[in-house]
Parts: sequence; structure tokens; C-alpha cells
Amino acid sequence: MSRQIGVGVIGAGWVGGIRANACAQTALVGELHIAETNPMRAAEIETETGAALVTDDWRQLVATDSLDAIIIASTPESARFPIVRAALKAGKHVLVEKPIAPGPEETDEAIALADAHGVQLSVGYTRRFDPKYAFVNAAIKRGQIGDPVTCLVSRNITREIGAKIKGRSRMSPAAMGGTHSIDFLLWCLQPRLPVRVYSQQSGKLFSQVSDTPDHQWIMVTMDDGTTISAGSGWVLPLGYPQYSQSWIEVIGTEGALTVDDTHRDITLNTVAEGIRYPLSSMPGEPVDHVFAGAMVDETIHFVEAIAHGRQALVTAREARLVMDVTMAADLSAETGQVVELPTRADFS
Ligand SMILES: NC(=O)c1ccc[n+]([C@@H]2O[C@H](COP(=O)([O-])OP(=O)(O)OC[C@H]3O[C@@H](n4cnc5c(N)ncnc54)[C@H](O)[C@@H]3O)[C@@H](O)[C@H]2O)c1
Repeated sequence: MSRQIGVGVIGAGWVGGIRANACAQTALVGELHIAETNPMRAAEIETETGAALVTDDWRQLVATDSLDAIIIASTPESARFPIVRAALKAGKHVLVEKPIAPGPEETDEAIALADAHGVQLSVGYTRRFDPKYAFVNAAIKRGQIGDPVTCLVSRNITREIGAKIKGRSRMSPAAMGGTHSIDFLLWCLQPRLPVRVYSQQSGKLFSQVSDTPDHQWIMVTMDDGTTISAGSGWVLPLGYPQYSQSWIEVIGTEGALTVDDTHRDITLNTVAEGIRYPLSSMPGEPVDHVFAGAMVDETIHFVEAIAHGRQALVTAREARLVMDVTMAADLSAETGQVVELPTRADFS
């Protein structure tokens, strides 16, 4: 049986703003509260959503009994864990943007807190809600291409987003962008588990002014021998604000899947700006009365899971496994060595 729920959104920037607007528009959310520390952004989001409360203090949201769930989208990522911990301790269901926590110890603590309080802890792995990606997952699980042999996801975003990310954290391309591809492929390949990771980084642009690489490749071997290659970079020229492009190839024993996620299906060519690729940002963007992208569907899915008492698609244990792989990738890139992963039996 469904009911209206109360939702708090902490951090209403680019991503939190999309999620707050999605909550404001669904009838399943009866009460919406927002915490945003930037006063200009707080005023904007208040006007956009008509939220019952907009504050600069996230603790107020965590302490509000009528809020069932908290969406945490504040940055920097490194400062977010105290909010996750407090929300879980207060018995709130939590959707947090990736990465789930700064490290494995904090992730395990968060999972234990969610279990102890009987609440859901889910992570913003938005790709799973893109129909193209959902199709790849479904086709693999239906056995349409036989037994998977090798999988590739190559994802690149613009240097504009790269500069934003590098400005707020020292996290690698594996932890920031690669995490989406690794989550996606581990999901598609379930119940197979990753056993071995090798990774290399390269840097010619950002590395001139910081220790941030431009790109990272991750190669993963699964326990049945399937291989994964996931590349993630952030130095594309500015084709469109927040532009992203990906290629997916999955080769199996009985077939192959190829997905063009480069957004070349729409071009806007103007005298003022030349060719642009609209609707190409990773989370998506509003177009008048519709939303072009996966993040609104993902947010509604989470709200529905809580309102209907169903399990959300992305679990914290899956996110923990993704973290194992991205951390192993960073270690491999640093040492130049292959990293063997500990044996894990449970990612449900
Ligand atoms: N799933 C996806 O497709 C996707 C895409 C892009 C980014 N992300 C992730 O989403 C998260 C947010 O990224 P973004 O680009 O929206 O960042 P952003 O910087 O645009 O927004 C963060 C907001 O949090 C606010 N904030 C900071 N500290 C706060 C606090 N203590 N309380 C309340 N508000 C606070 C800031 O003022 C800012 O408005 C990141 O973790 C990022 O990795 C996910």
C-alpha cells in the first residue's frame, strides 16, 4: 500500500536541484524540505520547488520526524559522511550520491546502521535508469547474447565538468566517473564477482596544474573469466554545457550488443555557437514539461520504493563492491601492479 512520504534534500546544486524538483512534482511526496548553504541557490530552489522549508542547516532536516527519507547531494564528497551517518541514525531512508562514503570502513558502518535501523541506503547510480543501459542489463540477463565474454564502457565528459570535480576533491577518474561504469557492468554481470583489477592513468592537461589525471582505464576480470574495460576521462572540449559521451560494447558467445550513447541524434547548429549536442548531460535536463534523462526517473523510483515499502534497485552492498573495484584500480594505477580482490560472497 502506498502513502505520501516526507523527503529532505541536502545540497541543492546541479544534481540535488534535479532531485528536489522531481520530489516537488510527484504526488507521492507530501512534504519537501531542503538544506542548501549557498543563499542564492537556496532562494532559487525555494522558488522552483515551493518547498515547505529551506534552511542552511541540514541538521534540521535530520531532526524532523515527518521526513521519511533524505537525499544527500551536497559537495564536497569528502565532507558528506557525517550527514549520511546522522540521517541513518535518525532512522531515515537515504539516497546518497556516489561515492557512498569516503572509504570501506565508513561504507560498512553505514550499511550496519541502515540494517540496525531497518532503513534503506541507496546510491545515485543513475545509468541504471537510462533505458539504453537497462536494455543492456536485461539482454545480458535474458541470455540474448549467450555467455558474456568481454564488456567495454568508455565514458568522457568535458573539461568544464572535470575542472569542477577536480576543484573540490582529489578523487580519481575511477572514483568519480568510472564508478558509474563499474556499477553498471557489475550489475549486468551479476551474480559474477570481480576478482582482479589492473588500471592505468594518463595526464597531459590537468596534470600541468595539479596532480589530477585526465583519464583512467580500469580492467577487471570476473570470477568466470569475463573481462571488463572501463575508461573514464574529463578533458573533452565543450560541445555543450555538461556534455558527456559513452560507448558500450558487450561481446558474448552468441551475440553482441553495441550502444552509442554519444548523443549525436540531435545537433543544434547556430551561427553564434556552431554545432552543439543538446540533451547530452549525464543526469539529464528539463525540457519544458518533460525531463530528458534518467535522474528524475531514478529519484521517483527511490521515492516509490520508500512509499510502497519496496527494495530500491541500487543497494549499499552493491556500492561497496563497486568501491572495492575503484579503490583497487587506484592502487593498481599507483603501483603499476595487478590487484587481487578479496573473495566476497554477498552483494545483495
Ligand atoms: N548520478 C549522476 O549522474 C551524477 C552526475 C553529476 C554529479 N553527481 C554527484 O552528485 C553530487 C553533487 O554534484 P553536483 O554537481 O550537483 O555538485 P554541486 O556543487 O553543483 O552542488 C552541491 C551543492 O551542495 C551545497 N552544499 C554544500 N555543503 C552543504 C551543506 N553542508 N548543506 C547543504 N548544502 C550544502 C552547495 O552549496 C551546492 O549547491 C556529487 O557527489 C557528484 O559526484 C552525480
